[in-house]
Amino acid sequence: MRGRARSAAGLVALGVAVGAGAIAWLGSPATPVAGSGGGSVLTVAESSVVEAGRALFVANCASCHGSQGAGGPNGPSLVGVGAASADFYLRTGRMPLSAPGQRVVRQDPHFDEADIEALVTYVASLGPGPSVPQVAAGGDIHRGWQLFQANCAACHNATGSGNAIGGGFVAVGLGQADARTIGEATIIGPGAMPAFDFDPQAQAALAAYIRWLGEAPTPGGAAIGQTGPVAEGFIGVAVGLPLLLLSALFIARRGGRTAPAPSEGRAPATDATRGGHDDGGPEPDR
Ligand code: HEC
Ligand code: HEC
Repeated sequence: MRGRARSAAGLVALGVAVGAGAIAWLGSPATPVAGSGGGSVLTVAESSVVEAGRALFVANCASCHGSQGAGGPNGPSLVGVGAASADFYLRTGRMPLSAPGQRVVRQDPHFDEADIEALVTYVASLGPGPSVPQVAAGGDIHRGWQLFQANCAACHNATGSGNAIGGGFVAVGLGQADARTIGEATIIGPGAMPAFDFDPQAQAALAAYIRWLGEAPTPGGAAIGQTGPVAEGFIGVAVGLPLLLLSALFIARRGGRTAPAPSEGRAPATDATRGGHDDGGPEPDR
């Protein structure tokens, strides 16, 4: 009787232990979050962020990238693209695309900070990939200039103002890119851009130089909104000259209409002269 009771209690204890183990195992995916440190398993807080991210993903991304993020006819697989890619595409508003076949463009982010973090954590949990780079401030601007001229200027223009690079691709202007975006772009190589393998110092240097470009004085003349290789001389001819011509025409037409006015105005004076009130000239002989 006592023996039975004890074994029943043992069974219950065993059941509880197995149940708790199973819940713990189900609750935390075996795949570690990329970048959260080699091989570490998700904490409970992190796994609830992943759950939030999964829900957002199913609602906003799965139609193109598949319910498990493995890709589909309208979007590539996101397994292994890493936090860097997800963070870049979400913070620059490139994702979500509004419809299949839509062009990928930079715009205001679609999600708030918390939702971006949840989505990024979820995408990172799909498989190991590059984490969001920590780009240090205060990089060497001169080195950044050298790196930029050698690696980036061909597409983004020497001033970072962007350029059409053929094939319908546009290397966007870099005026909006912060250090994080720059680091991520160089790691992942979005769209037609190649991926680079810079060390942290080179990344900091590039970020410092691109930042400087955005704030630099423009000794060459007006920046014209950093629109690219458009000389202010061209703006002068294309905008200024027609304006001058128009105002010349306007003045000429107005001048033509009011031309009689001065002679009318002079007429009474002539009468007055005739009336003998002119004291400027010599007195006429009477
Ligand atoms: C209408 C379809 C569509 C939707 C919805 C969509 N995407 Fe995409 N996504 C694409 C396409 C197409 C590409 C490839 C773009 C390219 O090559 O420039 C892409 C690329 C990406 C990439 C880059 C992958 C890589 O190789 O680095 C990420 C990350 C991404 N999407 C995340 C998301 C997330 C997160 C969502 C939901 C918030 C989302 N996408 C919603 C179609 C979609
Ligand atoms: C072969 C041409 C090419 C080269 C070389 C290139 N890029 Fe790009 N870059 C692009 C294109 C195209 C895009 C836009 C991709 C898209 O929207 O899908 C881009 C986007 C970016 C962005 C995102 C800007 C934003 O605000 O969204 C950054 C930052 C960037 N590039 C930095 C660099 C840096 C730094 C280098 C040099 C180390 C470089 N790129 C070299 C073509 C290039």
